[in-house]
Amino acid sequence: MNLNSDLSCSMVIFGATGDLAHRKLLPAIYNLQSEELLPENFAVVAIGRRDKTKEDYRKEIYDSIKQFSRFGMDNEVWNRIKNRIYYRRMDFLQTEDYQGLNEYLNEIDKKHKTKGNRIYYMAVAPEYFEGIVENLNNFCIDRKAHSWNRVVIEKPFGKNLSSAIYLNNKIVEVFKEENTYRIDHYLGKEMLQNIMVIRFANMLFEPLWNNKYIDHIQISSSETVGMKNRGGYYERSGAMRDMVQSHMLQLLSLIAMEPPNDLETKSIRDEKVKVLKALKEIKPEAVSENVVRGQYGPGGLADKRVLGYREESNVSPHSNTETFVALKVNIENLRWSGVPFYIRTGKRMEKKSTEIIIQFKSMENILYFKEKKVLPNMLVIRIQPTEGVFLQFNAKEPGNHKNIIPVQMDFCQNCEVGIDSPEAYEKLLFDALRGDTTLFTRWDEVESSWKFIDHILRGWNDNKPVFPNYEAGSWGPKESDMLLQRDNRNWINL
Ligand code: BG6
Repeated sequence: MNLNSDLSCSMVIFGATGDLAHRKLLPAIYNLQSEELLPENFAVVAIGRRDKTKEDYRKEIYDSIKQFSRFGMDNEVWNRIKNRIYYRRMDFLQTEDYQGLNEYLNEIDKKHKTKGNRIYYMAVAPEYFEGIVENLNNFCIDRKAHSWNRVVIEKPFGKNLSSAIYLNNKIVEVFKEENTYRIDHYLGKEMLQNIMVIRFANMLFEPLWNNKYIDHIQISSSETVGMKNRGGYYERSGAMRDMVQSHMLQLLSLIAMEPPNDLETKSIRDEKVKVLKALKEIKPEAVSENVVRGQYGPGGLADKRVLGYREESNVSPHSNTETFVALKVNIENLRWSGVPFYIRTGKRMEKKSTEIIIQFKSMENILYFKEKKVLPNMLVIRIQPTEGVFLQFNAKEPGNHKNIIPVQMDFCQNCEVGIDSPEAYEKLLFDALRGDTTLFTRWDEVESSWKFIDHILRGWNDNKPVFPNYEAGSWGPKESDMLLQRDNRNWINL
């Protein structure tokens, strides 16, 4: 891996007045400063459509950092970064504004000695990606200079396979694949990076990681939040595009991949993409049997009544957008043939949690297994909010009886005081600065996951759902339970 040793650059954020910039990006930049990971020669150019001065922007950002940084606000750290944050108002698609932007960025380059190196961060709605990239190409990228230009693209990367291909062609034409950082913030989460270590640095697990010993795997990410102010975006996206196409399939590929030849970016991505390519296609006619979609109606969450999806702002009262998906996935390769992967994600569910449960097989009718009470072993990788791993196995209940009880070995990574895992965006922004693409998705990963999802979306087009079909604050529609019950299994809600 050829990483930059000189990190000098400016980060140009399109959409800098939005939620993502306030809650994640600027707090992450501040945290990197606080850990002294930012280069000396560094500047942030925040671009938004609203009229404000750089002083106004700095003040707003100060408040956001105070609220969202995991370190809180330390004025000494703030003083070291604040004068390197600029604000520029412009309309993202106004071609005439880009000449001025280029001059402005050149001045910042000179002032902060950032050597013309730039990271363009697209924290905007997807419909702006193409136009911004085209204008940057025409006005802001100097191909003769010895500087580098990278682009960071937020999801959703397209809305189906064909739009993703179209968008990708537009982007790589300008930036090339090696400078295109497709961000999936799940890959920056501490425990996702830990999955490979758990699997490949322990002799204990890897020999059992296959269809001989594993009965099935559950990958579940539930959220309690509703739409907040994202109804408009979500109406066009839904849970399948918003969560499954990206985050959930990334989790699946890390859990199911073969060991890479080495730890180089290419080797890891090659193995992940093989998993996505081996997903058994769910043909439109098989969709209703293997995929459940849901939408929440009104309900109770933490003793509060909350609105149903159709009552949220910027959502159509007749919306058929799914806020929940559960699906059964099969991977057609030697390791996983016959092992179902059940994936589930939804909004307004009972609990916020992301977990991967590896359920081992039990032995039929042998020794203690003759007693039906003996539970099979289970390994749980907890991604959030608790980060850790637990292993459930059977032991004798202490005392004078012969009872066998399940016991757990529980490793909690963020339970000890003082262990505060870096936020995903911190890790990913730092990697973009260093030029490390390992935790970003390569085009063929995006392409393969769209191929898989497209079939399901087509199947959905053929029939209308009956929504709403689950109550806010529940574990989703009853059909989701039935999906597993048909296979004599149940969701494990820890
Ligand atoms: C985002 C989705 O990518 O991930 C959101 O667009 C979702 O809808 C969020 O809420 C979940 O992220 P996390 O880190 O809270 O699990």
